[in-house]
Amino acid sequence: MSSIEEIYPISRADLDLVRAFPKGFLWGAATASYQIEGAIKEDGRGPSIWDEFSATPGKVFQGHTGEVATDHYHRVPEDIVLMKELGLSAYRFSIAWPRVLPQGRGAINAAGLDFYERLVDELLAHGIAPFVTLYHWDLPLSLHKVGGWTNRDTAYAFADYADIVTKRLGDRVANWITLNEPWCSAYLGYGCGIHAPGIQDRQAAFVAGHHLLLAHGLALPRMRANIKSVAQVGLSLNFTPTYASDEREETKRDTELTDLFVNQWFISPIAHGRYPEGLFEALEVTPPPMQDGDLELIGAPIDFLGVNNYTRDVIRGGTIPARPDESVKVGPVPGACYTEMGWEIHPQSFNELLLRLYHEYGMQALYITENGAAFKDTWNGDGVVHDPRRIAYIQEYLQAAAEAVEQGVPLRGYFTWSLLDNFEWAEGYSKRFGIVYVDYQTQRRIIKDSGHWYKALLSAHRDASTL
Ligand code: FCB
Repeated sequence: MSSIEEIYPISRADLDLVRAFPKGFLWGAATASYQIEGAIKEDGRGPSIWDEFSATPGKVFQGHTGEVATDHYHRVPEDIVLMKELGLSAYRFSIAWPRVLPQGRGAINAAGLDFYERLVDELLAHGIAPFVTLYHWDLPLSLHKVGGWTNRDTAYAFADYADIVTKRLGDRVANWITLNEPWCSAYLGYGCGIHAPGIQDRQAAFVAGHHLLLAHGLALPRMRANIKSVAQVGLSLNFTPTYASDEREETKRDTELTDLFVNQWFISPIAHGRYPEGLFEALEVTPPPMQDGDLELIGAPIDFLGVNNYTRDVIRGGTIPARPDESVKVGPVPGACYTEMGWEIHPQSFNELLLRLYHEYGMQALYITENGAAFKDTWNGDGVVHDPRRIAYIQEYLQAAAEAVEQGVPLRGYFTWSLLDNFEWAEGYSKRFGIVYVDYQTQRRIIKDSGHWYKALLSAHRDASTL
């Protein structure tokens, strides 16, 4: 008889780990359109802000662009076979708005909707639940030309786009995410400008942030009208928990202000229907223009919160209060380990974050919609990529999540970022997050050790759930 180690090539500790997750818990991997699809000029797709931004010299590492990316647009069947091979029960991907509406509004590009319909049908045929994100940063360029997210009209255009997509796919897709990380769209895109559209204007970031939230709020009822009553809608927010480096009053103050800016800016309007107290003053901006009823729309109940988390920040206070976007981050923290992104590996903060979202913000259903790590992976041309540090990272973060489940947090699923190595925004292809390696010369996919390990973990969970 074969031993348990032969059946599941994972440790006994891993077997205990999976048992902490309830039956029906979803295991997935995540991607985003611009990061994997390529084919930016095919079948009627319109240009996006990321096409323009990445083509601008100096914006992305070594001038990399998403023009080819992982060529997923042409490799959907092959990539779904890969997902099946890994045993994923769910797959999170995003729809490129400019594929559906090349000008952002108006004429629909039938080929764009057809592409996503084929993708969804193929996933369903393989028993994989689609988690569809409507906006993962690739804003149609024509909307940008008239102000992008700083223009209130963009929120209405988004709601129309959400309506169009859910009219087509709402009979099949049961899990919807309006926006991915609006904090990044607003602040990285309009505040510090390291992401598209590359604007550096703090005030604009807060205006954009409000319109992103409004887009979510306006889309919710439109989407609900088109999807099945059992289907769910949520959004994915990024969180980086902040910790004080010492006990000084100044440190406590700057840590709290950074938390306000990094973690509370978006969850507070979503969960409580109001911006957190002191946010605009701390950032030295005026409140964004709001109309009556905006906050009610934004604060309407969601069915789940998608949580994206990779790391934490450790803050040290200065003698004068730092504006939270300029607070002093301590690093390297003695004894800590870091990923290739320079992000500290700190699973304990992940556990505390999940508890906070449940207790302080009352979130009744949570999915980890992104968690993972970039490391320098090397491939020697055969079928193997050893990435023990990624396995350790996911293992430790899952352990922290398992503890949260035991502490009563209603966690329903986990998506690792990412299924495939891909275009990592301003870092281009220099950072690999996949559990599957992509050889960009040939587009060959090689399952990394972490992918094999994840597969074994998922299969152990499936078997434990049927007992
Ligand atoms: C998140 C993004 C995702 C990916 C990871 C590493 O902020 O949502 O697209 O780039 O970071």
